[in-house]
Amino acid sequence: MTDTTLRLAVIAGARPNFMKIAPLLKAFQAHNAEVNESEARFACQLIHTGQHYDARMSDIFFSELGIAAPDVNLDVGSGSHAAQTAAIMTAFEPVCERLDPDWVVVVGDVNSTLACTLVAAKLGKRVAHVEAGLRSYDRSMPEEINRVVTDALADLLLTPSEDANENLKKEGIPDFKIRLVGNIMIDSLVAHLSNQRNGSILDQLELEDRGYVYVTLHRPSNVDQRETLSAIVAELSDIASRFPVVFPVHPRTQSRIDEFGLQFAGDGEIRLVPPIGYRDSLALTKHARCVLTDSGGLQEESTYFQTPCLTLRPNTERPVTISIGSNRLTCIETLRTDLEECLASDNRPGQIPPLWDGKTAERIVQALLDQRNGPRATPPGSGFRRPA
Ligand code: UD1
Repeated sequence: MTDTTLRLAVIAGARPNFMKIAPLLKAFQAHNAEVNESEARFACQLIHTGQHYDARMSDIFFSELGIAAPDVNLDVGSGSHAAQTAAIMTAFEPVCERLDPDWVVVVGDVNSTLACTLVAAKLGKRVAHVEAGLRSYDRSMPEEINRVVTDALADLLLTPSEDANENLKKEGIPDFKIRLVGNIMIDSLVAHLSNQRNGSILDQLELEDRGYVYVTLHRPSNVDQRETLSAIVAELSDIASRFPVVFPVHPRTQSRIDEFGLQFAGDGEIRLVPPIGYRDSLALTKHARCVLTDSGGLQEESTYFQTPCLTLRPNTERPVTISIGSNRLTCIETLRTDLEECLASDNRPGQIPPLWDGKTAERIVQALLDQRNGPRATPPGSGFRRPA
């Protein structure tokens, strides 16, 4: 390894992380293939925390997205927030010390993101946060706590949209740490546009183009309380009596359905399936009449496809999907009328937001090179760590 090498520890742990690291890893490789001997190169180590471990929650994304096997798997598994975060921290600390990276690159807002950021910051390693600055301003959401703490500690905040920059500035994060790079999820989406096996999952589930509602729900706020989840099951059964519904059921949701003994009404057109892979999910999103979700990623993917999306949450950390895209917030009380309204129209609302262009990973590569090559001013006491 030459002294022009930038050593990166790239962290992934849970399902929504994998489509964010895939384009990044490819962009680092592409950069290495293009530059000559004297220029900076990247040496990446991929660390899988094991937060998600089932084949349908993890392995399928590695194979579909062409991600090589992780260099290190921390194998932490499930647990309460404290137990899972602590397990990741304990397992990552010696790995981080041994790898001695110039940067720890974290993505998104899951417990793995927070845990590895805390470890890196305390070991004096610089942290680059991809998808920084998103805020729901709702601290009952565990991800919001993960976002706020990660951004407070990160040295380079790579943001997807202007609103994220504004949020960070309001929290006193200095400008020189913030870089607007665009939406990394869309890099994966764009790379798979011509590769979506369009039709096959639709055929498998006997669904017609624009002829079904695609549902994903897994947030604790929607699925962890019996009363809320049973109201959702009743609403979905009702809509399925009139319009086909396809619902890949997240393990958290499935275990709550089982625990509460809930059942969908028998004669409805509801296809309950186990968690599905990335390409099938993209195909279902693209061809749905409407998406009903509480997932951040699906709010963005439906916006890209201009598929109407109803988000079953009181807020979103991705407001651009509402102001520019095809997303609207809904709640159990208005769900039936909101869905009826979506089903009544064949519109493709909204537009694709700026920097959702498939080139975000390239901009991240450049941002990391700029940090190395052209030092920006480092105000004293700014908390910005320079490599030793
Ligand atoms: C996590 C993320 C959430 C993300 C979601 C995507 C946090 C705080 N939450 O939530 O932001 O939207 O992933 O899926 O990081 N389980 C399995 N197999 C697995 C993984 C989990 O069966 O491979 C079950 C376990 O019973 C576990 C439960 O699902 O207790 C929840 O998993 P966990 O990672 O704690 O949270 P998610 O709800 O998946």
